[in-house]
Amino acid sequence: MRTGSPLFIYDSLVQLSSAAAERVIDIANEAIGKRGVFRIALAGGSTPKGLYEVLSSHEYSRKTDWSAWEVYFSDERVVPLTDDRSNYAMVKSSLFDGAQFKEGNIYIPPVHLNDPAQVAEAYEALIRRNVAADDESVPSLDLVLLGLGSDGHTASLFPGKPAIEAVNRLVVESMPGVLPPDVDRVTFTLPFINAARHVMFLASGKDKQAAFSAAYSGVALGDVHQVPAYFVQPGSGSLEWFITNELAS
Ligand code: 6PG
Repeated sequence: MRTGSPLFIYDSLVQLSSAAAERVIDIANEAIGKRGVFRIALAGGSTPKGLYEVLSSHEYSRKTDWSAWEVYFSDERVVPLTDDRSNYAMVKSSLFDGAQFKEGNIYIPPVHLNDPAQVAEAYEALIRRNVAADDESVPSLDLVLLGLGSDGHTASLFPGKPAIEAVNRLVVESMPGVLPPDVDRVTFTLPFINAARHVMFLASGKDKQAAFSAAYSGVALGDVHQVPAYFVQPGSGSLEWFITNELAS
């Protein structure tokens, strides 16, 4: 059984979102202070959306140098960017339309290529060009945000699918899991996520209790090897969980 990552529990999604926003800003400002740039990967899903809405509020407009942020996506559905199922579309309306990012600093998976394998390869090449790795190792983003599915998936790493086994890759194509929407995706791999300086899970909803216990401490939900979120274990980076209380009870 594994426990010990910092776990922050809130009574509501509103409280979770505010606390997570403060933490993201601290990590961003520390990165900008040290390296002049903050590289973040955003997650899809309804829980991270609450955080994006806080970050795009007027109150946050002066809390960080938004022009020093470089934005990536930890997963994306291979659908047009205007499609309702697109993670980009959700982030555009909840965050990009409100905060003052530099447009050229938003790096979206090239979904127009249509073929998931090609989208993944092109996105990986872009990340490798932007983010230098020390000693040929895996490049590190400053922060990877992740959601959690009731089946234990995170990003688009679904139980029992080949994407969870990927090595020597940063981004791979991913077949849909059991949860909707039933579309092909691209996803960060576990080695790339685990190379990040910071990883934050954001999860809410009663349906995720079992997935949370399995991901956080390796108990329940049948075979833990079927729980991709359990394998998010950053090498030298930090791992923090922000959850609502219904997951912990
Ligand atoms: C995706 C998401 C996914 C999401 C979780 C949790 O593209 O499907 O990135 O990993 O974060 O499914 O989503 P909710 O917070 O909406 O439950």
